[in-house]
Amino acid sequence: MNKEKKVRAYTNIALIKYWGKRDEKLFLPMNSSLSLTLDSFYTETSVAFDDSTAEDRFYLNDALQDDKATAKVSRFLDLFREEAGIQTAAIVKSTNFVPTAAGLASSASGMAALAGAVNLASGLNLDKTTLSTYARRGSGSATRSIFGGFVEWQMGTGSDDSFAVKVDDASWDIGMVTIVVNDKQKAVSSRVGMKNTVATSPFYPGWLTATAIDLENIKTAILKKDFEQVGAITESNGMKMHATMLGANPPLSYWEPDSVRAMQAVRELRQLGVPCYFTMDAGPNVKVLCRLSDSQTIKNYLSNIFDPTQLIISGPGKDIEEITD
Ligand code: ADP
Ligand code: DP6
Repeated sequence: MNKEKKVRAYTNIALIKYWGKRDEKLFLPMNSSLSLTLDSFYTETSVAFDDSTAEDRFYLNDALQDDKATAKVSRFLDLFREEAGIQTAAIVKSTNFVPTAAGLASSASGMAALAGAVNLASGLNLDKTTLSTYARRGSGSATRSIFGGFVEWQMGTGSDDSFAVKVDDASWDIGMVTIVVNDKQKAVSSRVGMKNTVATSPFYPGWLTATAIDLENIKTAILKKDFEQVGAITESNGMKMHATMLGANPPLSYWEPDSVRAMQAVRELRQLGVPCYFTMDAGPNVKVLCRLSDSQTIKNYLSNIFDPTQLIISGPGKDIEEITD
C-alpha cells in the first residue's frame, strides 16, 4: 500500500460568480469568475491506491459513503488513473471543516483537496495551474480553490486553458464574516440550479454581458487595493446572479427570511460608517466582505440579530498544501 498523504484545500467565495456551463462534461463555464479564498473553511483529504480493495471506498467525515457519492469520486479519480496508467482502486478519506452542501462551498474545497491528494498518490505531480483544470472537472468552483488570495478562473477556449490564475495574494486588510443562516443540505444543488437558469432565464444574456464588465472592473479595483470598489462590485454581481435565477422556469430562490435580514444588517452597518458588502451563493447563507480589521465590529453588530455561533470570521486562505499530522 502506498504511503498516505493528506492535502488541505481552503474554500473560496466568488465575488464575481460562476453560474452556468457551456460544456457540462468538461465543466467549461459560460463566464470567467473571481473569488476570495478563505482560511476558516477547508477540507483535508488523503488518497491511497490499495491492492487489497477491489472498489474505491470513500469516507467523508469518518462515514463510509453510499454508491452515488462514491461513484462521483471514482469518476474523478479515473481522470488521474487514466493519465498515470493506474488500475488500482483507492481508499479516500476526507474531512470537511465546512458544512457539506449548504452553500458554503464544500464542493470547492472538497474537490480541490481530492485533486491535490490524488495528484500526490498517483505520482503525477502536476503543477498547480494544470491541477486546477483537473479540480474543475470535479466541481467548477474547485478550480479556484487551488490558489489562495484573489483568484480568477479564466473561462478559456477549451479544457486546457480554462484554469485558475492568482490575481493578488490578498495580504492586505481583507476578510469575510459568514452568517450561517442555515447549514442544512440545500434542496437544489448549484449544478441543477445553474443548468435550469441557463436553459430558461430570459435574463441570462444580460447576466453574461454585465459580468464580463464587473470582472474587469473588480480586477482593476483589487490591483489598486480599492476595498470599497471591490465590495460594491461584489454586492452588485451577486444580486445579478440571483436575479437570473428568479427569472428561471421554475423560478429559483435560495433566500430565507434571515438572509434578507442579514443583507439589511449589512446596509445598516454601512450607514453607520462601517464599509462592508454582502454576497450569497446557492444557499441561504450570507457572506460579508469586509476589512479584516472591521470584522469583530461587524460580528458584534450582527450578534444583536444572530447567535454568535452563526457568525464566522475568515481571513484570506492559502494555496492548497500538504499536511503532516
Ligand atoms: P456546497 O454549497 O457545499 O458546495 P454543492 O451541492 O455545490 O454544495 O456540493 C456538494 C457536493 O460536493 C457533495 O454532494 C459532494 O459531491 C461534493 N463534496 C463535498 N465535500 C466533499 C469532499 N470532502 N470530498 C469530495 N467531494 C465532496
Ligand atoms: C453560486 O462549483 O458548486 O457558488 O461546477 O456544478 O459543481 P458545479 O457547481 P459549483 O457552483 C458554484 C456556484 C456558486 C458561484 C461560484 O462559486 O462561482
